[in-house]
Amino acid sequence: MTFETIQVEQHDAVTLVRINRPKALNALNSQVLEELIEAFGSFEADDTQRCAVLTGAGEKAFAAGADIKEMAEKPLAEFYGENFFSRWTSHFTRAIRKPWIAAVNGFALGGGCEVAMMADFILASDTAKFGQPEIKLGVLPGMGGSQRLTHAVGKAKAMELVLTGRLMDPEEAERAGLVARVVPAADLLNDALKTAATIASMPPLAAMANKEAVNAAFELGLDMGIQHERRLFNVLSGTEDKREGMQAFIEKRDPSWSGR
Ligand code: HXC
Repeated sequence: MTFETIQVEQHDAVTLVRINRPKALNALNSQVLEELIEAFGSFEADDTQRCAVLTGAGEKAFAAGADIKEMAEKPLAEFYGENFFSRWTSHFTRAIRKPWIAAVNGFALGGGCEVAMMADFILASDTAKFGQPEIKLGVLPGMGGSQRLTHAVGKAKAMELVLTGRLMDPEEAERAGLVARVVPAADLLNDALKTAATIASMPPLAAMANKEAVNAAFELGLDMGIQHERRLFNVLSGTEDKREGMQAFIEKRDPSWSGR
C-alpha cells in the first residue's frame, strides 16, 4: 500500500507512522485520516508487529488540527451525513487492541491533540504545544477532546483550556497528567521507538489485556472495573505465555514468548 500523506516504516516489531504534510503543519484532512485508518488496520492485522508509534513529519508539528481549509466550506448536512470523524475515532479506540504511542514533536492542537489522546500514552518533546483552540473557530473539540482532555487533566484545567483556547507547554501537560514523559526534541523519536520496542518485547496477549484493563478505568465504575480486571487476569492465567513467563523466572532464564 502506498500512501501520499503519511509514511510508514517497520522497525522490527515496531510500526512507525508519520503524518507527512509538514507544510500544512500536518493538518488532518480526510486523506490523512483514511490513510491512518488503513495503516493502523494493517498494523493491527500483522502478527509480526507488536507496538506502533505515531508522530509528525518535520520539527514543528505533530498535527495542528483538523484541516481548517477543508472544514471551512463543509455544510452541516455533510458533517452530519458523513458522520465526519466518527469512523476514525471509533477505529482507533475500539479496533486497535495493540498498544501504540503518540510521540508529540511540536504542535498538537485541536484534532491533533485529540488524536494524541487516542494513543495509549503520549511522549512529548520539550518543544511540544498542546491545546484545544476550536472555540476560536466557532466550534468545539469534535473527536473526543472535551471528554478525553477532561479525563486526563480534570475539569478545571480542561474547562480553562477549551474556553480560552490557550496552549499548554509540555511541562504543564506532564504535571497535569496528559503526558507520560517529556524528552529533549532531538531524542524523542529514538526514545519513542525504544519504549515501543520494550512493549513489543512483552507477551502480546498480556500487552493487549493490560491496555484493555487500564482503558476500562475510563468506561466503568471502580467495582465493575476491578471485576473486569479480574476476568482479564483469569484469561491470561490460561495462556502458554503465563506458564512460560513464570517458569522462566523460576529457572532464572529469559522467557521465549509464543503469543499463545
Ligand atoms: C489547515 C493549517 C492548519 C490547520 C496550520 N495550517 N494549521 N492548515 N488546517 N489546522 C497551515 C497554515 O494555513 C499555513 O499554510 C501553514 O500551515 C503554516 O502555518 P502558520 O500559521 O503560517 O504557522 P505559524 O505562524 O507558526 O502558526 C502555527 C499555529 C497556527 C499556531 C499552529 O498555524 C494555527 O493556529 N493553526 C491552527 C490551529 C487550530 O486552530 N487547530 C484546530 C483546528 S479545528 P499556508 O498555506 O498559509 O502557508 C479542529 C477540530 C477538530 O481541529 C474536531 C473536528 C470535528
